[in-house]
Amino acid sequence: MGTKRLFLVNGPNLNMLGRREPDTYGNKSLEDVVKLVEETAGESEFEITAFQSNHEGDLVDWIQRAEEEADGIILNPAAYTHTSIALRDAISAISKPVVEIHISNVHAREAFRHTSILAPVCSGQVVGFGIDGYRLATLGMIQKIESEGRNDS
Ligand code: DQA
Repeated sequence: MGTKRLFLVNGPNLNMLGRREPDTYGNKSLEDVVKLVEETAGESEFEITAFQSNHEGDLVDWIQRAEEEADGIILNPAAYTHTSIALRDAISAISKPVVEIHISNVHAREAFRHTSILAPVCSGQVVGFGIDGYRLATLGMIQKIESEGRNDS
């Protein structure tokens, strides 16, 4: 059994975390998020490959890549959550589990943020716990991968 790997994929405008609408998204940077996820994963000897893009097609490429190169994806699709059939189709196209995470409580915000096109094809969703949601999403994903590994044997 080799080292397990998770992709951490962040969508548009999340490169501006810490500077972007801090009342909604907090003061921590994307670098802080990556560190938090790496530390959390490291406790279970999972490795992280982190990627951020403002471009939908790049995110599709990384989701597809996970099929060969990762055991699961922690995904904050940002605004594409609410619009992207292409991301949904990419998630459906792979067999690896995907957890959707949102820093803010999207359900307490504008109506257009209440619908996720992606949630029905994800394994789970973490919403509204701020940056700590990334830690929770990482733990949930590891738990899922490890328990499925045990069922296989
Ligand atoms: C977000 C919520 C989305 O509605 C928004 O477009 C984002 C960030 C979040 O993490 O709370 O860019 O995904």
